[in-house]
Amino acid sequence: MTRQDPAAALNTGTHDMPVSPVLDAFMATAWAPSPLPDLGPEPVAPWAAKRRERLSARYPGERLVVPAGTLKVRSNSVDYRFRPHTAYTYLTGDHTPDGVLVLEPVGDAHEAVLYLRPRSPRDTGEFYRDRRHGEFWTGRRPTLDESTTLLGVECAHLDTLPARLTGPAVPTRLLCGVDPDVDRLAAPTDAGRSAELAAHLSEMRLVKDPWEVEQLQLAVDHTATGFADVVRALPRALRHPRGERWLEGVFDMRARIEGNGTGYDTIAAAGAHACVLHWIRNDGPLDPTQLLLFDAGVEMDSLYTADITRTLPLSGRFTPAQREAYELVLAAQQAGIDALRPGARFRDFHNAAMRVIAEGLHAWGVLRVTPEEALRPDSGLYRRYTLCSSGHMLGMDLHDCAKARAEAYLDGVLEPGHVLTVEPGLYLQPDDETLPVELRGIGIRVEDDLVITEDGARLMSAALPRTPDAIEEWMGTLAG
Ligand code: GLY
Ligand code: MN
Repeated sequence: MTRQDPAAALNTGTHDMPVSPVLDAFMATAWAPSPLPDLGPEPVAPWAAKRRERLSARYPGERLVVPAGTLKVRSNSVDYRFRPHTAYTYLTGDHTPDGVLVLEPVGDAHEAVLYLRPRSPRDTGEFYRDRRHGEFWTGRRPTLDESTTLLGVECAHLDTLPARLTGPAVPTRLLCGVDPDVDRLAAPTDAGRSAELAAHLSEMRLVKDPWEVEQLQLAVDHTATGFADVVRALPRALRHPRGERWLEGVFDMRARIEGNGTGYDTIAAAGAHACVLHWIRNDGPLDPTQLLLFDAGVEMDSLYTADITRTLPLSGRFTPAQREAYELVLAAQQAGIDALRPGARFRDFHNAAMRVIAEGLHAWGVLRVTPEEALRPDSGLYRRYTLCSSGHMLGMDLHDCAKARAEAYLDGVLEPGHVLTVEPGLYLQPDDETLPVELRGIGIRVEDDLVITEDGARLMSAALPRTPDAIEEWMGTLAG
């Protein structure tokens, strides 16, 4: 598919010099062949093939269209770093912009074809003049043959996609809203069927296959290394007026070195900033009398991300009030973790954690009604201090499988292979007059990543300490 691309004109942009015809002719000559060496299938290829088979079996006789999405302009001729739609990468292993997976019905099965923008040819100016797609600007893409080998699926030129989609009418389900060009071309049979496809593409990712669990474990392990980097950086960060930002930078460097980057913007929240659930401004100083809530995850090149939070005393030692508040959140988290097993409802771990929080707040005299009353759905008064739910599915997306129907997720039942976070928190706002003064401005979250097993759950992030004593010891060791 040929997109209207302003950069494909003879000028590469406002600040690039025009290209003379003689230079253009010269650029088209004398390039040695440069095939990719030692090419074999990507490790993800056989897993992606199984996923396509599962999808095919559900929709016999229907064409399925799943686009990667397109580059988005950040400003002028600068794009954001590309992020493919999760369902597209799940089904193909590919990460490049503009790709479109088509499962064409053939009898009761489907033939899969991946429409891609191939390597820039050397007989047009794209390779050296096109800032968005040119090989000399953004790097070499595989040829179609190379992509077929790498991904283990037949690959065709993107330019041939319109002919496929506008040929004889075939019942079609489209993952809508991802690529405007494909939305125009694919003519889905009806919006309801396409919405059902979007939901199913989320639901089929709920149970992770062994390759996905391996990728998530790597993400978690590198995240644990990043947290140790952060603790080691504390002495320098404590001296900097934007210490939060310093720590963000330290973690993000680890994420970029080990993986694709961070799976979401790092939250580095010192003191009362920790009462803001997603504090990503990270422009504050660090005060050694305060706690630091640090919530971050390394995203692997495969796009699987970890999501871990630790709340650390910036002095290396919890004060009695900080320790008491921390112990309550930790007890809530442990109750949540203890509720994880196949067959348990997704809601159970949240409810177990919130019961502990409500009882603790009542024991402190903060919650004036009984825990039973506070926990009733028509009350929820304890939520003034917890604000959000205690966990979510985790995968390629931070809040994974978000389009899944309630019966499969929120009202559903846990199964082996589900990967999720358990992350209760207490957010005691600095201006909350219901709180004793010594608790005001304390924000605590303890967040770990777990995989549901045949008989319970495995803590994937066990490399990081959770108890106050273990945290103090770990911080002391890292301080040397
Ligand atoms: N850790 C960030 C989030 O779960 O939203
Ligand atoms: Mn989370």
